[in-house]
Amino acid sequence: MRYKIAVLEGDGIGPEICAGALTVLKKVGKKFNHRFDFIHYPIGGYAIDNFGSPLPKETTDGCLASDSVLLGAVGGYKWDNLSGAERPEAGLLGIRKTMNLYSNIRPAKLWKSLADASPLKKELIENGLDILIVRELTGGIYFGERTLATDENGEIYATDTEKYSVSEIERITKIACKLAVKRSGKIASVDKANVLETSRLWRKTVHAYCNEHYPEIEVKDVLVDNMAMQLVKNPSQFDVVLTSNMFGDILSDEAAQITGSIGMLASSSLGDGTRGLYEPIHGSAPDIAGTDSANPVATILAAAMMLRDSFGLDTECAAIEKAVQTVLEKGYRTADIMQPGMKKIGCAETAQRIADEI
Ligand code: IPM
Ligand code: MG
Repeated sequence: MRYKIAVLEGDGIGPEICAGALTVLKKVGKKFNHRFDFIHYPIGGYAIDNFGSPLPKETTDGCLASDSVLLGAVGGYKWDNLSGAERPEAGLLGIRKTMNLYSNIRPAKLWKSLADASPLKKELIENGLDILIVRELTGGIYFGERTLATDENGEIYATDTEKYSVSEIERITKIACKLAVKRSGKIASVDKANVLETSRLWRKTVHAYCNEHYPEIEVKDVLVDNMAMQLVKNPSQFDVVLTSNMFGDILSDEAAQITGSIGMLASSSLGDGTRGLYEPIHGSAPDIAGTDSANPVATILAAAMMLRDSFGLDTECAAIEKAVQTVLEKGYRTADIMQPGMKKIGCAETAQRIADEI
């Protein structure tokens, strides 16, 4: 089969980690007889500098004409003082919205060989950790109305609006349910219903949807502050975690760190079709950009998710995951997961070694 993949490298370590993922995809193509055509498009700070916009039209058109999209990371100090709509992040939010990718899946899984890298005590994670964060991605405070204005006393103020409709909550709940029935049958739905109106609607809608369509699923409501605490106190109690855009952003970083390194976690963003956007959950790490020391595993695993969730290539996805595991078991580590007695290697070598195991 032939697949057209749009590659958006972005900023910082973006180009290095994408190059790593392409090394692995090329090997998969060779081994399993697929043709992957990679077409690069600008996004983020790089696109601002070279094309005057964080999301040039060429990029959205290219993504919409592709079979799927692989993204590195956006952002950096250089663009930190730009206004909201001009920032590199606006490119990422824009492409999520344009492609209507409302469902963001972030698996936080503990790799056995990395258990020592977790900041949590051994006894807290001895039962393993396999959490699937289902984050709503095109609504909420990320996309609500914003103002920056001056009031009648001359004081400057700002607002951001959190808005959710029933249909937005229902469609993401449906995704969580589909995943939960294949797993433990349990969903933890995270909100702040003791304070926010949007959260009360969230809670009501999630329960109504599940009762009607998936009565066998057990839904537990967890307040977001309690969730932040439970994740470090007893993370193995969770399986599928369903939450809003903002809470999902925050909690997925926390869950990632519990597994050892944010450099290991991938994510998929999908809408109603099979065309998705796949990216690591970490950022552009401008402090280590260009040093060949970034961990490419999250992006490589994102590419694996693309093969499975957009193209239905389950065997190929499993082959990449197994190759990652083998390289870790052989003791190779990038700096972020380096431990005594292990062999420290760079970004490109990590990708090459993973490719070689396929
Ligand atoms: C993420 C990132 C983005 C987000 C930023 C870069 C806009 O933190 O994907 O988690 O907040 O969604
Ligand atoms: Mg984030």
